[in-house]
Amino acid sequence: MRIILHTGKGGVGKTSVASSTGVELARRGYKTLVMSVDPAHSVADSFDLGRRLLAPAGTPTKIRPNLWIQEVDIQKEVGRHWKHVHGYVASLLNISGLNEILAEELAIFPGMEEVSSLMYINQYMREDTFDVILLDCAPTAESLRFISIPNTLQWYMDRIFSDKLFTLERRVAKVMRPLVNTFSPVPLPEDECFQQVKTLYENLRGIDKVLTNPEITTVRLVTTPEKMVLKETQRAFLFFCLYGMTVDAVIVNRLLPEDVQDRFFKGWKSTQERHLSTIGEFFAPVPIWKIPLFNNEILGLRELDRLGKAIYGSRDPALVYYKESPYRFGQVDGVYQLRMKLPFVETEDVDMFKHGDELVVRVGAFKRHIPLPQRMSSLEPEKARVENGDVIITFHKTEVADAAGASALPPVRPREAVQTRK
Ligand SMILES: Nc1ncnc2c1ncn2[C@@H]1O[C@H](COP(=O)(O)OP(=O)(O)O)[C@@H](O)[C@H]1O
Ligand SMILES: [Mg+2]
Repeated sequence: MRIILHTGKGGVGKTSVASSTGVELARRGYKTLVMSVDPAHSVADSFDLGRRLLAPAGTPTKIRPNLWIQEVDIQKEVGRHWKHVHGYVASLLNISGLNEILAEELAIFPGMEEVSSLMYINQYMREDTFDVILLDCAPTAESLRFISIPNTLQWYMDRIFSDKLFTLERRVAKVMRPLVNTFSPVPLPEDECFQQVKTLYENLRGIDKVLTNPEITTVRLVTTPEKMVLKETQRAFLFFCLYGMTVDAVIVNRLLPEDVQDRFFKGWKSTQERHLSTIGEFFAPVPIWKIPLFNNEILGLRELDRLGKAIYGSRDPALVYYKESPYRFGQVDGVYQLRMKLPFVETEDVDMFKHGDELVVRVGAFKRHIPLPQRMSSLEPEKARVENGDVIITFHKTEVADAAGASALPPVRPREAVQTRK
């Protein structure tokens, strides 16, 4: 199965591109689902379908041969997967003085919607329901958070909810609940709440591997040739690199066609040309696909079909167009090193420290836990340097590792010790 994410700033054309890609794939015989993860759903609108024609929430609607659409409805998802967790959080908020309705509203955390869509993806993946799932993501900032969820959740789950600890907490809560609930205004969670967290975790298990496997999942960044939009696209590119996801195309939308010669558009045309050459420098060697501005809005099957042809021509949208691994571990002259594709980064932007057998790399607000291969987990990261858009981190042997060989247990060092920031 293939999963393709479409993301970019609001209004650049994500929904139009995702929907037209769906039309193109279905025409080629792929069983395709276009799934909207953007809370401002508009997939049905781009097909010019009335919302009442959609199947009940949580079920894909077939709209033509080989083509389904689905919009994730958070209210319905709360009922299905989050009821007890939501109820518990709402009761805590209610106790803290919020009125009941507001507490219920606030108990929908940011990210629940995205986690729900990841559960669907995992389910369709396990059941092999579709050949291709196209995700119409929320504008960039939100869709980035969506990518970090499995990674973060896995990290917490592995450490906090390890099976033994989880069972223990649950048992303690069961025994203590009647007592605590008599004396304390803050209730302990019901057993169903624990069960639900566990089920959620199990439903998400493995999705991070799916998202970081370039044979399965790739990201297509949709942008327009404007400075502010490009800045956001650049940040998104860096972020996907950090999360080990593969961007296999950058799609530049709304280019003024050649035959527009009106004086009014002269300035626009030269600005677009300038930005277009910058795009080449920024994202190469990732392929760049161009879409002209159409003479009308993109609405309904006919227009989507036209857009699909403009993007892909004879290309098959399901293929992977670029798949370089974002991390490479190796040895140069006997020194272990990690190479990461992190474009637009300067040496002084990179902070890092080792934590157990993980390297934690921080660039600005982004943070990434990179599991180190066994051979490297006993070594200490020494310094980061930037070379041709790659961050190269070299590792040196510690005294313990020297004495006992590279496979010795990793010594624990204070976090600050290896930060490179001045
Ligand atoms: N190449 C294009 N030519 C003309 N109109 C376009 C083009 N791409 C997108 N549109 C229109 O722009 C609007 C926003 O596109 P949409 O796909 O909804 O963006 P997003 O999902 O990124 O917010 C829609 O009305 C769509 O029909
Ligand atoms: Mg949209």
